Amino acid sequence: MADSAATGRSIPIVSPVEGVSEALIRELVETFYDRVIRDPELGPIFHKALSGRWSQHLALMVDFWSSIALRTGRYQGKPQTAHFGLPLTPELFARWLSLFEKTAQDICEPDVADFFVDRARRIAESLQIGLGIGPKALRLP
Ligand code: HEM
Repeated sequence: MADSAATGRSIPIVSPVEGVSEALIRELVETFYDRVIRDPELGPIFHKALSGRWSQHLALMVDFWSSIALRTGRYQGKPQTAHFGLPLTPELFARWLSLFEKTAQDICEPDVADFFVDRARRIAESLQIGLGIGPKALRLP
């Protein structure tokens, strides 16, 4: 295909879900972390880890979700590494997920909310496995 040759890309980038824009991702991220920071259990963890770096964290999280929902490739970090050393438990992950689910449902169309929540759940699970916590953590003798 001429287009592919011109762009050097043979497979078009297709968003895995319809109806997501950068503006929607920004609204989701800003609303979610606004709620997170006011949460009595999650808030202090973010306050302590991110003092003075809050706006960078929000920009990073917009890039993260834009890479997932729009396949922009803007996030190239390693989420696993960022969570080492934080006092995380399965209960805190469940709390994070329930706040995220409520926020996604408040802001997005139902199928778009389902998409974000499904990805968040899977990533939360793999983060917990990597951190050695939760029901699926490897229990080595
Ligand atoms: C109990 C749940 C969670 C807590 C308390 C938490 C807390 C944090 C904190 C404090 C940071 C900033 C670390 C730093 O820059 O020093 C961070 C970074 C991040 N978190 Fe979480 N997190 C949680 C769950 C999740 C989940 C479920 C996801 C994905 C769906 C996620 C995605 C990320 C990403 C992408 C970063 C940025 C990593 C980087 O620096 O490249 N987090 N998190």
